[in-house]
Amino acid sequence: MLKFSLTTLIVALAAGTGALADDDCNHLDVDFIILEGDATILAIEDDIRADLGKVGVHVNTRALAKDDFNAAMVAGDFNLAFSETWGPPYDPHSYAKSWSSPDEAYYAALVGLEAPNTKAVLDQKIADALLVEGEVERGESWSDILNILHDQATEIPFSGKSIPAVVNSRLSGYTPGHQQFDYPIHNIRVASGSKNITLAPGAQTGLFQGVGRLDPHSYRPNEFFSNNWVYEGLVEYGPDGIILPSLAVSWSVADIADGKQKYTFNLREGVKFHDGADWDCSVAKLNLNHVFAPPLTTSDWHGWYGLPEKLESWTCTSTYVLELTSSDSYYPLLQELSYIRPLRMLSPNMFVGGASSDPLTQNSCPMGWGSATLGDVTVTCAGVTGIAGTGRWQHISTVMDSGGEHATTVEFKNFDSHWDSYGGSDGVDHVKLVYYATKADVKAALNSGELDAIIGDGVLDPEDVKEFKGTAGFTVSMTEPLQNRVVVFNTAKAPTNILKNRKIMIHAVDKAAIIEKELAGLDEPVDSLFSKKAPYCSVDLTPKWDYDIEKAELLNCPEDDESKKLPAGAIAAIVVCAAAVIALTTFIAYMRRKEIQGKPIFTPLIQHDPDGKHGVQDL
Ligand SMILES: *[C@@H]1O[C@H](CO)[C@@H](O)[C@H](O)[C@H]1NC(C)=O
Repeated sequence: MLKFSLTTLIVALAAGTGALADDDCNHLDVDFIILEGDATILAIEDDIRADLGKVGVHVNTRALAKDDFNAAMVAGDFNLAFSETWGPPYDPHSYAKSWSSPDEAYYAALVGLEAPNTKAVLDQKIADALLVEGEVERGESWSDILNILHDQATEIPFSGKSIPAVVNSRLSGYTPGHQQFDYPIHNIRVASGSKNITLAPGAQTGLFQGVGRLDPHSYRPNEFFSNNWVYEGLVEYGPDGIILPSLAVSWSVADIADGKQKYTFNLREGVKFHDGADWDCSVAKLNLNHVFAPPLTTSDWHGWYGLPEKLESWTCTSTYVLELTSSDSYYPLLQELSYIRPLRMLSPNMFVGGASSDPLTQNSCPMGWGSATLGDVTVTCAGVTGIAGTGRWQHISTVMDSGGEHATTVEFKNFDSHWDSYGGSDGVDHVKLVYYATKADVKAALNSGELDAIIGDGVLDPEDVKEFKGTAGFTVSMTEPLQNRVVVFNTAKAPTNILKNRKIMIHAVDKAAIIEKELAGLDEPVDSLFSKKAPYCSVDLTPKWDYDIEKAELLNCPEDDESKKLPAGAIAAIVVCAAAVIALTTFIAYMRRKEIQGKPIFTPLIQHDPDGKHGVQDL
């Protein structure tokens, strides 16, 4: 009798307090595509799948090879896909511009945006924002764009990614870079030991495999970080979006006729390339002639960003003065001149045909590109004849493994004729990049002292970075959160075409817990697509799209079956009753023991009502 009532109460309690079974929720099936081979991403996806499962969202995971992944992304063949913003200096404007051409996940994912702010309207607003001259008005334009995305819940904002560096304590002074592949090793001071250092750098694919062609005017397999060491542009992207002088020392902008603008750059004098060539305006012009030869400015080549289309002409008005004309008041122009590729300056000696190289028949584009045609103009790619920029690090040698599959070491030497030589007496002389097959090998090499430093993402597991933070003999530094990891919703494919379903998923994912578990707490949870530090992105977007499991349940697991759910008052009553029964049972056992011992407490009651049924009332 007593046992029966207790069991009944416990069952009622469990049902009342939630422990929602999946079948209380509306069943949604979603397709989540991920790039195969990244263990951390897989682990995060696994946790997201578990969280979504709690509110009735069933995830079908498809791990795809890179080409298949890109194809699915562009075709919109997914409900959920991981993406990352590009970080400085590309956020927000270049990343947002990329949504209008078929390469990023957002290209297909935004097609389902609802009127009045459809994708076509959004694309136009983005294009317009890039031409707004006043700072305040420009901020308002971006605020409008960010609010449109926010209102339509276009992604699960996940985390802000910080990039680590772990440096042996014999080296000091390393300061984190300002963009993903900015590894400013010239800041390192050598306190003891050799001024030749070894480094395992984070590359585009994680562990370093080589530095590619190391030509300034093209893309993969070149690595951003080494291109950034070897080659410089007119300007550089500094902290908080400041544009710093580089091969130009100063500049001015003037409005000219027809809404166009003229940029006048005073170029740095006395600068040498690694091969001894001189930098001046003729070299700047040669580089511009090659990179922005008209067929190469289309979206198949360099047209992924705005500058190639906006630059109308360039000319030298003296040996050290360069004038650029822009077709309209395109505000990100200087920012885009800071990009690591494709417009960094190559020594004139390294063009096929030298300083008088023909941009059409001897273009510096890699030979593998073949040729490019626009109208009746054809560019033939001839590649470059060597590696020479003006940057702080000069390429010395690349050693390939015996199978020729990857580099084993790549060496750079401090360029002591650099215009801002940081070398000094305690700077680094040589840096040797070293190949390691696994993250575990990297960790062991750091611990043995064979390796001086790692810089970058994907070189060590997050928990190992955390471990080095607490290990004597190493200094660990992290960049500011530079890029946001997000899970993009395809707004054009059921069931993520429904705004409510997207909100359910946003509220169901416990980002902080996942970051702690899979990323050793190194990232920060975020609640917006772009970092609040990106230009014009410090907008307060409300309501916050955050973890809120009750909201997710309320949206997808409606309490329509009252027999399964009890109101709060009933739950309280049950709790009180259960406590009373447990207390009584304990008391009865005690009394029985006393009885057996011959010391009954309430002799008459126990004798006449041994199962305690009336005892509840009597007590
Ligand atoms: C540093 O490396 C360079 C290039 O490999 C080499 O010539 C030089 O001897 C090395 N210096 C020391 C002190 O090991």
